Formats: sequence, structure tokens, C-alpha cells
Amino acid sequence: MAGDVITAEPPQLFDRLEEQKSDSLLQLIALCDADPRPDKIDVGVGVYRDAAGATPILRAVKAAEKRLWETQETKAYLGSMGDARFTALIRPIVFGDTLAKDDRIVGLQTPGGCGALRLGADLVARANPRARIHVGQPTWPNHGPLIECSGVEMVSYPYYDAAQRIILFDRMMDALGRAEAGDLLLLHGCCHNPTGADLSLDQWREVAALVSRRGLIPYVDLAYQGLGNGLEADAAGTRLVVEAAEQALIAQSCDKNFGVYRERTGNLFVKAGSKRAAEVVFGNLLTLARTMWSMPPDHGAAIARIVLDTPELRADWNAELKEMCARIRTLRARLAGYDERLAYIDGQNGMFSILPLREEQVLALRREKGIYLANSGRFNVVGLSDDNVDRFAAAVVEKLDG
Ligand code: LMR
Repeated sequence: MAGDVITAEPPQLFDRLEEQKSDSLLQLIALCDADPRPDKIDVGVGVYRDAAGATPILRAVKAAEKRLWETQETKAYLGSMGDARFTALIRPIVFGDTLAKDDRIVGLQTPGGCGALRLGADLVARANPRARIHVGQPTWPNHGPLIECSGVEMVSYPYYDAAQRIILFDRMMDALGRAEAGDLLLLHGCCHNPTGADLSLDQWREVAALVSRRGLIPYVDLAYQGLGNGLEADAAGTRLVVEAAEQALIAQSCDKNFGVYRERTGNLFVKAGSKRAAEVVFGNLLTLARTMWSMPPDHGAAIARIVLDTPELRADWNAELKEMCARIRTLRARLAGYDERLAYIDGQNGMFSILPLREEQVLALRREKGIYLANSGRFNVVGLSDDNVDRFAAAVVEKLDG
């Protein structure tokens, strides 16, 4: 009847949601923050720390921020591609001068490497709803959920054996030898996360040959360029596979190498079969970005652009990057020297390494000593300060089996 009060309960839409486990690395940040012990050791999430245990803003970044503040006249929209000059400056850093000129490669700014990975996966799913991507195990814990969200099927290939501390290269190549033409292949460009174990240049050459022989599409996650063996060396593998492949995707991040983590600063580059195809790809990337974040956040990209466009800031950034890299190397060598069971850490690259610990040993370190590393045994080498590295090494050695 007209005027009746409607009393029916609305269906409880959100009751249908399943409870979620939060991301293991983000959970670790919260757990460590909540621990009141003053001597706790945070080697969880991947942020650089200096000898005193701080994550300072780089000098070049601070100087660029000042310039930005003094000179920026508007914050009007830039469009879905973000800061095109920033992307153009990153391009030769990733690809080198020659490959950077390839007009089959297009790129745009994204919210960090994660945004780039997601945008690329969505592009792949849009282009081919039946696409498959081969992902090495173990990998960064967010790779799987992110790829799954895009609807791309994930197939695992063996990559690293934590107990033996070795890359399972033959098994990896065997598995990839069975991949089908048009399948994607997720590769860590450098500083493998979580293992720190990178392919040698010869192994990259073999992967490049396989990619070309079998018509695979490399999808390179390049989040740590400059933190392994320098900007050029860290991009060498990526360049080999991109050159060899007809088509490729590269998710690039400045979050770590500019230390602008929370600014979310990165790029997605895509190589297509022709210049025309690349233009169509670019149009699709713009429309996909528009539906997800519309436009990427500007601040981090504007800073990186100013750094790269200003010779003295660029030189200082290069020097700071080298300092960070050297500190990582020193810490690796120091840890390796404590016990021969840790010797493998020295031969690896970047922020991470996996300790051959069982989950209960990891949890015991957390409980007894306030040492926060991922349940997988992954730890952030450069999360250690000069003050706690000895204590960390002693506690780990005490827990190691035989
Ligand atoms: C990490 O693996 O610790 C970093 O990539 C941070 C993150 O977003 O997980």
C-alpha cells in the first residue's frame, strides 16, 4: 500500500566476503612496529637502511624536492601517461642507448613497480584471456595474487632451492622448454626477490635464446636496478631478453633506487611486434590506467625527472646509489664471514637473501630475539645496522641446522 514503511532487511552484500589474510610482508611491518623491545631487528620489508639503521631521503632527492617546491607552478592534471619526460629519461637507463631508440617499445608512468606489474597483467588479459605466465618459485609473495587478480593463468617453474642455496637452472630450462609459443615468462631483472640469487650473464643468454626459439614473451620485473652491481650491469639480462623477444613487458620501479618508496614511482614498458602494434598497445595502456588510477601520483616522478635532468643532481644520485650498493656488498661479505653455512650470501645480489631456516626457527627468532624476517626465511640484508649485525648473525647461526 502506498505510504507503507519498508522494513525488509537489505541483503547483506558484504557478509558474502571471505575474510582475508593480509599480505605477509605488510603484516610483518605491523608485527615489528607493535613489538616494544628496543633492540628488535627489522629485516622484513625491503627498505634500505644506512649504518645507523635509518632510511634517509637521498641528498639528490631532497634537493630535487626543494627545486620542485620552488618552481612548480601548477598541479593540473597530466593525463594517464603521467610525466612523459620522466618516462623518457628512465628509458635509456633500462634499455641502454641503442635499444631505447626502438620504436616498437612504448612506456608510461605507473604507481610504482606494483602498478606497472598490474597494468601489464591487465593488458595481457585483455589481449588474450587465455594467456599463461610462467613464474619461478619462489617469487615475491605479491606476484601470484596480482597476476591472479588480472585473470592470467599462472604456471610455476622451479627457480631456487633454499636448502641447497642454488639456482635450479637446468630444471628451470627444462620446464620452460615445455612452454608454448605466446606464453609469458616472469623474470626478475636483477636482485632476485626473495632469494638474491640472480642468473649469470651466460644463463641470461640461454634464456634469451630459448625465448626467441620458442616465441615466449618475457615479463621482466626490474625493481632494484642499481642495487646489485650498478645500473648498467643490473639491466644486462633484461636487455638481452628484450632484444631476443618479438614482444616483451618490463615493469620498472624507482621506489628503491631513488629511495622514494611511498611515492609509488615506476613505469611500464611494452615491446610490440611493430611500431603500429606498439601504438595500439599504448592506447590500451592509457584506457586501462584510466579505469584503475586515472593518473599516476606525480611527486616521485617529478623528483626523479628533476634529478635525471640536472647534471649535478644526477651525478650525486649515481654516487649515492653506488654507496648503497657498496653497503649491501659489505654487509653480505660480513654475514658470509660468520659461518660457512652463510657463505653463499656473499655471491648474491641486492637486498634479499633466504636463510635456510624452517618456519618454526623463524618464529623462534621473532619470539626470543625480536628478529623480524619473513616466514619463508627471506631477510633484508640491508635492514641490518652496524650495531645489530653481529647479534643478528649470532642468533641465526645458533638456529641453523647442521
Ligand atoms: C619487498 O618485497 O619487501 C618490497 O618489494 C616491498 C613490497 O611491496 O613488498
